[in-house]
Amino acid sequence: MTSPDLTAPLSSGNLQLPNRLCFSGHVTNLSDGPFLSDRHLAYFRQRLSGNIGMLVNDPLPVHPSSDTLRTKLTLNAETTQSFTALTKACQSHNVKAVQQLYHAGAHGFAKTSFHPSWSPGGAPSLHDQDTSHKMSGEEIDILIESFVTHALNAQEAGFDGIEIVAGANMLFEQFWSPLTNPRDDRWGGTFEKRMTFSTEVVERIRKTVGEKFIIGLVMTSCDGYPTSLSDEELEAIVSYHDALGCIDYFSFSIDDDLPENLDRQLDRIARYRNRIANGCLRVAGNVTTPERAEHILHRGGADFVGMTRALIADPSLMEKYRSGDRQSIRPCVGCNQGCIGRRARDYTVACLANPSAGRELRFPETVPQAKAPLKILVAGGGLAGMEAARSAAEAGHHVILAERGEELGGQWRLAGLLPKRSAYQKLLDWYRYQFQLLGIVPLTGTEINRDKLQASDFDHLIIATGAGPTKTGFQRPLPNRSVLPGVHSENVYPVEDVLSGITPLDKTTNARVLVLDDIGFRQGIGTALFLANLGHEVTFITRHAIPSPETLSLKDHEWLPAKLTNLGVTLLTETLLLSWNNGVAEYGDSASSAPHSSRFDFLVLATTNSANQELENQVAETPLSYSLAGDCQGARKGHMAIYEGRKAIMAIHCGDDKC
Ligand SMILES: Cc1cc2nc3c(=O)[nH]c(=O)nc-3n(C[C@H](O)[C@H](O)[C@H](O)COP(=O)(O)O)c2cc1C
Ligand code: SF4
Repeated sequence: MTSPDLTAPLSSGNLQLPNRLCFSGHVTNLSDGPFLSDRHLAYFRQRLSGNIGMLVNDPLPVHPSSDTLRTKLTLNAETTQSFTALTKACQSHNVKAVQQLYHAGAHGFAKTSFHPSWSPGGAPSLHDQDTSHKMSGEEIDILIESFVTHALNAQEAGFDGIEIVAGANMLFEQFWSPLTNPRDDRWGGTFEKRMTFSTEVVERIRKTVGEKFIIGLVMTSCDGYPTSLSDEELEAIVSYHDALGCIDYFSFSIDDDLPENLDRQLDRIARYRNRIANGCLRVAGNVTTPERAEHILHRGGADFVGMTRALIADPSLMEKYRSGDRQSIRPCVGCNQGCIGRRARDYTVACLANPSAGRELRFPETVPQAKAPLKILVAGGGLAGMEAARSAAEAGHHVILAERGEELGGQWRLAGLLPKRSAYQKLLDWYRYQFQLLGIVPLTGTEINRDKLQASDFDHLIIATGAGPTKTGFQRPLPNRSVLPGVHSENVYPVEDVLSGITPLDKTTNARVLVLDDIGFRQGIGTALFLANLGHEVTFITRHAIPSPETLSLKDHEWLPAKLTNLGVTLLTETLLLSWNNGVAEYGDSASSAPHSSRFDFLVLATTNSANQELENQVAETPLSYSLAGDCQGARKGHMAIYEGRKAIMAIHCGDDKC
């Protein structure tokens, strides 16, 4: 038997899907209080029109004791109509609509729920410092009833099914594990008793919603979560629940996007798959490209796959894949900046690569045609300039894109040279391909200045000249020292120069390098790793308590500490660089503390950049029509650059900047 394609239908019991691609569940925070908002709907509609087989709606807590989100999306009689708008949209696209349900057990958030977290055994929360309330038998009955009521509400709102987040340390798993379920009543003790809660939930849901309603169980990821269940126990749990005959699919996830780890993780998931006789298997998590999805399916690793970020980045991924136009798929670059990072802070969903994601009503996926095409000159070929040029050409404007350097990509191109960030290159490849399709021929090695402007024929100028290093060594805890003493000397370089290959650091080895990081994002620590990879002896000095705290919510810390240790990078945290005297660094925990000193060969600066405003200053007093996009308005991150590149073009359409 040949394995299915991503585009092949799935026909197995209640799972009658037009293809094997599911837009997997995630918190978008797009709701309007308890209602599914128009903005929410537009986000999903965009993905529905891209040809998916199943759509999973935002997770809903089934009870106030697990209300972990700021937005209070709720499915009840009052709000059901807003959900029906989504399920009808799914039906019109022949896509199965599934509502995700969860209860976090001990790991709720009293900060958002204002309710004690309910759990089987009163365990401490893994997310904060709180501990939970051990449920009484009556309270357990209340939760079972809550799951059933939510499933019924979902059915009445037109959903084809529900899925319950069972693993990932959620309530089901807390009942399953003897470590979190110390009960000796009917809910705990023997293996069978620990299965009682989940069994009652799924059997009662099945009885209430009938045989034709999809029920899925989202299990734990295969490597990532520190679960207290062994592989053998998980296999037994899968087998037990499959034998109930109520579950239409189980879902397991892959934990990283490294090609070399994929087959090993699939082998691990296969252990669970072998225990499923009645239901199907979905594999989700880090299924970042259709090719990866095909690999999983062809290997027999799953019946269907889930994608979240890949479809956030390109809602039309499947359509493009089906038509053979794979180069057109806007890649998810795995940065986590717009999506998971914002989720961690409870903001609305967004995407660095796709400025339309989460704001489809303001920024349609395809930029609307301009009523009166203009000649638009874009100065700067970093992310902001590239997106402005692409959007302008898509709108039908005539575009000239000029970049001072020899290559496009600006700071983003340099960031793509850092360890673990090679996927950034894919976004640049995508822009280059778009330029080909849209007939844009970038003028590299071309700096726009007053003279060039006078000689050029254009209607509107977009200034996207980015930001550059200040080379002052300024550190925020020392606001009175705008310049680090001794910084203007030999062998001191900003990270940009190091990554551009214009310093001696890539021509030597074994140098003692001090990397000063005042920012706390990827450029400092990434350059430290880059230099350690080249064989240098690297010391990393930062005012922060840990390296790169800004990436804590971006999942970098899942691999960063081990990498730093392996490469032997020395960390000086909560430390300020007080002076640099021809290779002698003086440092301490404050300006007034007695300094330590050490000798280094090089100092590398990851300190805040300053906006390149030269061109803006040149045109400010002229009658030229212009707008600004990206870091030339203040050094920030790639996410804002692409957003502002698009916004600059949308503002021309709207006639103001409210887009
Ligand atoms: C915007 C967004 C919100 C998410 N919210 C949650 C969440 O609340 N809980 C969770 O366990 N995972 C959450 N995830 C993680 C996804 O479930 C999924 O594991 C992850 O995105 C990897 O899958 P992908 O590579 O297809 O994106 C979220 C992901 C995204 C992109
Ligand atoms: S923000 Fe980054 S990781 Fe998230 S979907 Fe967009 S490209 Fe992918």
